[in-house]
Amino acid sequence: MAGLIDQIEPLKQAALADLQAAPDLAALEQAKGNWIGTHGKFTALMKQLGTLSKEEKPAAGKAINAAKIELETALAGRRSELELIASLPKEPTDFTLPGRRRTLGKLHPLTQVTEDIVRSFRKIGFVVADGPEVEDEYHCFDALNTPADHPARDTQDTFYLAAGADGTTRHATRNTLLLRTHTSSVQIRVMKLQPPPVRIIVPGRVYRRDNADATHNPTFHQIEGLYVDKGVTVGDLKGTVEFVFKELMGSDVKIRFRPHYFSYTEPSYEIDFTNTLVKKMGKDWLEIAGCGMVHPQVFENVGYDPEVWTGWAFGFGIERIAMLRYGINDIRLFYENDVRFLKQF
Ligand code: DAH
Repeated sequence: MAGLIDQIEPLKQAALADLQAAPDLAALEQAKGNWIGTHGKFTALMKQLGTLSKEEKPAAGKAINAAKIELETALAGRRSELELIASLPKEPTDFTLPGRRRTLGKLHPLTQVTEDIVRSFRKIGFVVADGPEVEDEYHCFDALNTPADHPARDTQDTFYLAAGADGTTRHATRNTLLLRTHTSSVQIRVMKLQPPPVRIIVPGRVYRRDNADATHNPTFHQIEGLYVDKGVTVGDLKGTVEFVFKELMGSDVKIRFRPHYFSYTEPSYEIDFTNTLVKKMGKDWLEIAGCGMVHPQVFENVGYDPEVWTGWAFGFGIERIAMLRYGINDIRLFYENDVRFLKQF
C-alpha cells in the first residue's frame, strides 16, 4: 500500500470529479456521502491518520485538511449551481403570449359628477375653494344672516358637537361647533380671507339629521358657488347656471327660477330643472338648487362694502344631479360601496 500521504491527491481528484458530475441535488447528496460522509472514502483516509508515526503525522494531517477544505468548497459551489437550475421554470417562457390584464379601479360616480361640474366652472374662470366639515355656528349661520330661530339651528336638524373649540360645552360658548349643514359657510371663510372680486365653487360633504331613505341621507354632498364683483346681476346668475347645466346634462336642458327665501340672499330663488329624462320620469320640473343675490348684511359681516360690491351665490346637491344623470332611484346606493353598482360608471 502506498504511503497515506500519496493517496490524498488521487482520492481528492476523484471526489472532486464526482461532485462536479452530480446532475441534481439528490445525486450531489449521494456523492457527498460517498466521499466525506461518516462512511465516506475520504473520511476513511482521515481515520488512518492515527496510525502514522510521529514524524509522518504533521505533513499528512496538513495535506488532508487542505484537501478537505477544497472538497467542501467544491460541494458548496456545485450545490448553489444545482439549486439555481432547480429554481428555473421547467417550461420555456413564451414572451409572445398576451399579458394578464390588471383590473383598474374607477372613480366613484359622485366624484365623476363633481369633477365634471368643477371642469365646467373652471372654463368660465371659477376656482375651487375648501373649508372645514367641523364648522362653527358663526360661519354656518350667524355670518350668513341666519336667525337664531331658523330650523337649521335646531338640534333636531343639525349635529352639534358636545364641546366647543375652546373645550367649553354647548351652552357655555357662543360659537358652538357642529357638522356643517351646507357648504355656504365657505362663502364666509373665503370672503373674510380675500378682497373682491371672488369667483369660487366649493364642492364638499355636508351633514343633516335626516333618516336615510331613497332620497335622504345624513351625509351628502353639495356644490356652492359665489361670484362677487361690481355690477353683477341675476342675468349673470341665470346665464351661468344654464351654461353649466347644459354642459352637464345636455343641450335639451331647461332652467326655471322660482322666488324663494334664503336669509343670506335677497332676492332668493329656487332653480327648477327639466330635460327629456325628467319628462320620462313623469314630471314637468325638478327642484335642483337654491340661489340668489348676496344679501347686503352678509357683505357687511365679511367687511365688503355693499354699496360697491354685488354678487350671487347658489348651492346644489351633487347626489341629486348624479341620480338624474345616471337614472339612479335610491341615494343610499352611493354609500353602500357595492361593486356591482360602482362598476357601472
Ligand atoms: N345652503 C342652501 C341649502 O343647503 C343652498 C343655497 C341656497 C346656497 C341659496 C346658496 C344660496 O349659496 O344663495 O339648501
